[in-house]
Amino acid sequence: MSSAQPSDQKWRLVIHGGAGIIERDRITAGEETAIRAALNRALDAGSEILESGGAALDAVEAAVRVLEDDPHFNAGRGSVFTYEGRIEMDASIMDGRDRNAGAVSGVTGTKNPIGLARAVMEQSPHVFLSREGADQFSREHGLEQAPASWFETAERRRQLDELRARPEAEHFDVHLKYGTVGAVALDRAGHVAAATSTGGLTGKRWGRIGDSPIIGAGCYADDRGCAVSGTGAGEYFIRVGVAHAISDAVRIGHDGAQAAADAAMADVAALGGSGGVIVVTPAGEGVFSFNTSGMYRGEAGPAGRSVALYGDERS
Ligand code: GLY
Repeated sequence: MSSAQPSDQKWRLVIHGGAGIIERDRITAGEETAIRAALNRALDAGSEILESGGAALDAVEAAVRVLEDDPHFNAGRGSVFTYEGRIEMDASIMDGRDRNAGAVSGVTGTKNPIGLARAVMEQSPHVFLSREGADQFSREHGLEQAPASWFETAERRRQLDELRARPEAEHFDVHLKYGTVGAVALDRAGHVAAATSTGGLTGKRWGRIGDSPIIGAGCYADDRGCAVSGTGAGEYFIRVGVAHAISDAVRIGHDGAQAAADAAMADVAALGGSGGVIVVTPAGEGVFSFNTSGMYRGEAGPAGRSVALYGDERS
């Protein structure tokens, strides 16, 4: 019997655009249409690569770039403001083939922070760069830069103004729509990858860093386990080590992907946190788990695709 050709192998792409209080009476029809269209464009970008036999790593970067460029999500353009009114973005990427990883935190001028995370992985001896140093690395390595006006939107400014008027809520996103974006993929060669990008939390201060750029918290990929990207209250995801916990549970064989994801989210909830995760396994299973009322999400594979926003939608 001949072995399967690459074109016979399955591929899978799962994306998210953030979890939180995502309910029909809080989103206008126009916003909903735009968000679904953006999720579909992100699925297009990643699926094209995977369908033609490209790498999971390329697919997750391509999908996240689309969401970073769309102002409806809290990553890249449309990132939330810090308490001082700056944009400081975090991103991470991981390759399940060799567990190579790259991450950046507090970057201000790179148009697509996920590309910078990948450059750190591939063009530096390090895993994690931050703030001015990461900005400098980005410029020195020729990544596309954008002015502050590219990232800033009137809606995010309004959300900061609202938060600053309610100082007792300073640690929490006023709309509890975390809006972090992410993608996980399996390619036809059987490799998985994960990518996560965010502006963090509205009104964050003191150089606060969430889970998104922390390998093992908001992002993890291991061909022996699975690929995971998270969205939610980063402090809890860090304490649980969500992404690594899920991948290791699958690797060790304690749990299937859905059970592992649900267990990690239950652990987040037990500590008082909320959010969600997406998972893809080397066997081609795609999983969502969230403990919020909704999560912007989508998935695609050879059999078709789906996009969903609300908790009661099939996905
Ligand atoms: N999950 C995004 C953050 O906490 O920054």
